[in-house]
Amino acid sequence: MKNKNLISIDDLTIDEIDKILDLADKFKKKKKLNFDLSGKTLGLIFQKPSNRTRVSFMVGMHQLKGNSIYLTSEELQLGKREAIKDVARVLSRYLDIIAARTYSHKTILELANEADIPVINALTDLLHPCQALSDIFTIKELRDNFKDIKLAYVGDGNNVLHSLLLAAGKVGLNLSAATPEGYEPDGNIVEKAKKNAEISGSTIEITNNPIEAVNNADFIYTDVWASMHQEDELDERKNLFKPYQVNAELLSKAKRNCFIMHCLPAKRGIEITDEVLDGPQSVVYDQAENRLHVQKAILFLLLKG
Ligand code: CP
Ligand code: NVA
Repeated sequence: MKNKNLISIDDLTIDEIDKILDLADKFKKKKKLNFDLSGKTLGLIFQKPSNRTRVSFMVGMHQLKGNSIYLTSEELQLGKREAIKDVARVLSRYLDIIAARTYSHKTILELANEADIPVINALTDLLHPCQALSDIFTIKELRDNFKDIKLAYVGDGNNVLHSLLLAAGKVGLNLSAATPEGYEPDGNIVEKAKKNAEISGSTIEITNNPIEAVNNADFIYTDVWASMHQEDELDERKNLFKPYQVNAELLSKAKRNCFIMHCLPAKRGIEITDEVLDGPQSVVYDQAENRLHVQKAILFLLLKG
């Protein structure tokens, strides 16, 4: 994996995904204490706010004895103060690796094309691969493997769902996603996920019916109804999305011991109730913790192979 970019889960082979999950497990169990990225510097380019992604990348780099530099959009003003290609070419002379959170997916593709160093997608409007890798790590941790496990995603057909679809298809996890009409996931991504699922032996289902999606589910996953930069659409979306709220009633339609997932940040009382988010079946803070272990594995494998 040395020197690769990680823009989409689709960039990874199943062997590479296994490698990431195995190394993350070693980091979590503190079996790889001598792994070292000293002398290496990670640049974080963030056009949107972040808690988990930013902090876990910076702490992860620190734990591996490397450095990180956080670059805000005010600082870089990608494409405004300077062309994206000039930013990418100049930073490649100083840094060893970049993690970028951009509004548009096109921006990260241009950054990755122009940079001579690996670029990691830290979320775009289309994809959130580091989140999905951490989520399948969490699922594996709780259920040992992916075979015959059903993940139900309920809510907006957004970046988080797109990366979950691609990850599920690759690793052989069954995924059923329910979104309101007009908010379905991108058709090309669903196609890719289904093709991968044919090979791995899992099923990918897209529906508008949340009860159908959670039926017999081992995991229920949701995310905000309006992502960053769409916040002003939340009010008009609230009515349409109401049947997709993850609450005690929806939970009662899934398997009895079903786990609850959310990438966070959550809008409590909107897409998920406090009762469910804080309840005994919620694993949302394990997901957040696992971002650290998984991203350390990604950093290590992209820098050292
Ligand atoms: N889940 C996630 O990516 O959180 P942040 O936006 O806080 O980084
Ligand atoms: N879909 C959300 C995920 C945040 C981690 C967003 O893009 O804002």
